Amino acid sequence: MDYLYAKEYLKSIGQSQLLKYYDELDEDERAQLLKDIERTDFGVLENIGAERAPLGKIEPIAPLGLEESARRREEFENKGLQLISEGKVAAVLLAGGQGTRLGFDKPKGMFNMGENKFLSIFELHIKDLCGVAEAAGRFCPLYIMTSETNNDDTVKFFKENAYFGYPEDKIHFFIQDVAPTCDFDGKVFLDEKHRVSLAPNGNGGWYKSLVSHGLDKVLKKEGAEWINVCGVDNVLQRICDPVFVGATVCGGYVSGTKIVRKERPDENVGLLCKVDGRPSVIEYYEMDDSLKNLSKDGKLVYCNGIILNYLFNISALDRAATEKFPYHLAVKKIAHVENGERIKPEAPCGYKFETLVVDMVAAMENCLPFEVSRKSEFAPVKNAVGNDSVDTARALLKENGFLL
Ligand code: UD1
Repeated sequence: MDYLYAKEYLKSIGQSQLLKYYDELDEDERAQLLKDIERTDFGVLENIGAERAPLGKIEPIAPLGLEESARRREEFENKGLQLISEGKVAAVLLAGGQGTRLGFDKPKGMFNMGENKFLSIFELHIKDLCGVAEAAGRFCPLYIMTSETNNDDTVKFFKENAYFGYPEDKIHFFIQDVAPTCDFDGKVFLDEKHRVSLAPNGNGGWYKSLVSHGLDKVLKKEGAEWINVCGVDNVLQRICDPVFVGATVCGGYVSGTKIVRKERPDENVGLLCKVDGRPSVIEYYEMDDSLKNLSKDGKLVYCNGIILNYLFNISALDRAATEKFPYHLAVKKIAHVENGERIKPEAPCGYKFETLVVDMVAAMENCLPFEVSRKSEFAPVKNAVGNDSVDTARALLKENGFLL
């Protein structure tokens, strides 16, 4: 894209501010800015102020509870281990997030959970997967989604640590797509005078990004039929848990999601419910307060808290991938250039556009809600202090026998 074309084009879509500092830039910077403009998906801006389809009829949904899964544990585990040993199960670790709430500017997986030794979140996950491999006699392929910002650090960290003992050829990295950020009037920000502000486009883009990197072919060539999608920040996350895999497959489902019983109405977890008769996840910031607080006999009615551990059948995903997942607007503090200076605002100043993995559940033909014990499987590291913080996660790791 050349300058004159960019100028005309941006004028026609009301985004001329992106060229405000063009005259001050050197040759390389000008080329970089034009490249950024060319690859920016301005179409996402149409989501501002767009009417969202009403949610439909919301109802609670009963999970396969702890008692039943304990009773059928052997059956589920054997089935899961069989599928893993046949190479039919792979995993995706969503590690493209920015860790803003934690205030850690490296990839979150590099965060040290140790007290007397260095023990990263990535190491905790890989060691857990090694345990599964030992039981099944086969390593599950692991696909790690990174972002443009944290990819190099992530790949280097794995190399330096010899992949924590996992076979190198079983670990694939891929970079997720980006979307522009903008102010509340829809004007796209400059991150620097010569860079458009482009941020990771949410964790719902994982399958599209995997496909655009050609990795879906690798996945299928490796023989995978099921894919376990997990967030990086739950340090007790059990990736490729044979019991969960077995329960989903034995039940004849095409997808499953692990849930824990929600503790407080204001806990920041997505909620699995039925929407118009189908299992769907409603994110915590989009759930109506009256439903969040609704209780019966002293118990929350909507209590299926999502821990970001999903299992999807890959053929079902291929069918659903033709559906367009919606963008959600996230109100955020976004560093940007204002009056010639790069500022880091103290208060939210605009929007990021994110597709969410939670929307994949509603696109599936069915989904098993699988309850797990929160004490042994849910220790998210979201915040520096308080709820879901490093301290609460360390305490839970210790309770589960980890030496820190
Ligand atoms: C997420 C879940 C929520 C769940 C909660 C449990 C989503 C959309 N929300 O909420 O349902 O109850 O965890 O703790 O999944 N990520 C990317 N790329 C991005 C954005 C995020 O890879 O562009 C990854 C992060 O690295 C992280 C995960 O997705 O592993 C969750 O992201 P985050 O934005 O922190 O979600 P929460 O709001 O905590």
